[in-house]
Amino acid sequence: MHDDHPAIEIQALVKRFGDFTAVDQLSLRVSRGQLFGFLGPNGAGKTTTLKMLTGLMQPSAGRARVAGHDVVAEPLQVKSRIGVVPESLGLYERLSPREHLELTGRLHGLDAGTIARRSGRLLEHLGLTERADSLVVDFSTGMKKKTALAAALLPGPEVLFLDEPFEGVDVVSSRVIKDMLRALVDQRGVTVFFSTHIMELVERLCDEVAVIHQGRLIAQGDLADLRRATETGAEASLEEVFLSLVDARPTGVDRLDWLETP
Ligand SMILES: Nc1ncnc2c1ncn2[C@@H]1O[C@H](COP(=O)(O)OP(=O)(O)OP(=O)(O)O)[C@@H](O)[C@H]1O
Ligand SMILES: [Mg+2]
Repeated sequence: MHDDHPAIEIQALVKRFGDFTAVDQLSLRVSRGQLFGFLGPNGAGKTTTLKMLTGLMQPSAGRARVAGHDVVAEPLQVKSRIGVVPESLGLYERLSPREHLELTGRLHGLDAGTIARRSGRLLEHLGLTERADSLVVDFSTGMKKKTALAAALLPGPEVLFLDEPFEGVDVVSSRVIKDMLRALVDQRGVTVFFSTHIMELVERLCDEVAVIHQGRLIAQGDLADLRRATETGAEASLEEVFLSLVDARPTGVDRLDWLETP
């Protein structure tokens, strides 16, 4: 099915907005069949990187290949092999989940029978069957995320990209999504690349992590690799490792002197 390429290969990728550099010489390689966490504080450049990898934004410099194809030179080959759940979700408010799946399926050239069969299974798996024909406009955040995830999975992507998939999602839906991502990787060989700033989640869920800060890659590996890189010790949680990597020191509230002392 695949030739011998990594799922994602990024070389010296740069994105500038005017004279501000949001992504700075980022190089990263993600092997196939990994659940990969892209971790960084607010404004680190995660969404910007994801947009470049999924063809939603042109890089200022550098190269990236996804599923064996160059994101700038071969955008259609890339798009036909990936699924994307952007932060904005990209849903149409006046369509139902079933209609979203049908639209996605048709855009990917699938026949009606295949679309109906896959849609039924995805809606069932994600607990959306009862609301399958309701308009997305009335959905909660979690239901919208699950609808977007179902649409991303319908064509059978080789690589799945998600931007903050657990943001605004309750523990029940979060569990469903986590289990699904893990199973996609373990049982189907899909590569999952998702951004987050929730360290605990990455720690339990991911095979490998990259940490980005101010547009630069500052660490990559499993948790043991990151602990070694920061010399934070074998017992350190990813939160401690992360704070050490981004050099965040706790600041006192002394200067907020108008706030009342109890
Ligand atoms: N279109 C744009 N024009 C100008 N600056 C931008 C634009 N998009 C992003 N930026 C800037 O690039 C930097 C990285 O933004 P990005 O959205 O990639 O961060 P992020 O890691 O996804 O953060 P968060 O965790 O808050 O989602 C930020 O400083 C942001 O203000
Ligand atoms: Mg973001």
